[in-house]
Amino acid sequence: MAFLDKHKAIETHATLLMVLSLLVVAIGGIVQIVPLFYLQNTIENVEGMRPYTPLELAGQEIYLREGCYVCHSQMIRPMRDEVERYGHYSLAAESQYDHPFQWGSKRTGPDLARVGGKYSDAWHVDHLTDPQSVVPESVMPKYGFLSTVKLDGKYIGDRMRAEQIVGVPYTDAQMQNAVADFTAQADPNADTSGLLERYGKAAVSNYDGQAGVTEMDALIAYLQVLGTMVDFSTFTPDASR
Ligand code: HEC
Repeated sequence: MAFLDKHKAIETHATLLMVLSLLVVAIGGIVQIVPLFYLQNTIENVEGMRPYTPLELAGQEIYLREGCYVCHSQMIRPMRDEVERYGHYSLAAESQYDHPFQWGSKRTGPDLARVGGKYSDAWHVDHLTDPQSVVPESVMPKYGFLSTVKLDGKYIGDRMRAEQIVGVPYTDAQMQNAVADFTAQADPNADTSGLLERYGKAAVSNYDGQAGVTEMDALIAYLQVLGTMVDFSTFTPDASR
């Protein structure tokens, strides 16, 4: 056929084939990417979303350091089986202050996007210290050593500054009180009115029951806030987008 003969010219010239392939791929890319430049905002602003408190942020660092994301995702897809198991599907806004985002790519363990408030702090201590004592068939490693490492929050202000550079809107008051807020959140006897005023809803607890702030406190503070910032009893998606 005449048409196939013409195509043969392309298929037998490597350079021509490459140039034309690139052209086709470029058109596909432009069609997908260019419209995004014309959206005013690709992330819907959702009420309740706030930057992590200093203690939660320290907990997220431990989550990253220990590679929890290797076994746990943090993205509930809008499919019925997932929504029934984990709760409301994840919103883009719920990852807007995560650097890097924690969507994950593997679920050896369950999704953690809404694990906040699902268990007590004491359950988390038991589970992280010895997962098999709570879930006998668990393949999760033991993280008891986190209770033995104390944190003083000395560098948390620097970490918040880094987050600010990539767009997290920490206020001046939040920056100035970084260390105070860091220690107050893990001490129920501390004056936490400043912390709560600066961050709104934040759980205050001596997570691991020991005096002082440990890595265990920070990690549990982080786990307990996951998926709890947005109130889904009042949330309605913005249909105009
Ligand atoms: C080798 C894979 C693996 C790693 C690494 C891992 N987990 Fe898990 N995790 C699991 C499995 C499997 C389960 C389900 C059984 C259980 O509850 O122990 C689980 C369960 C959990 C649960 C309970 C979730 C629920 O909804 O019941 C939490 C919370 C959790 N992991 C947190 C963590 C944190 C925090 C880290 C990092 C410090 C971590 N995991 C690292 C495999 C892992």
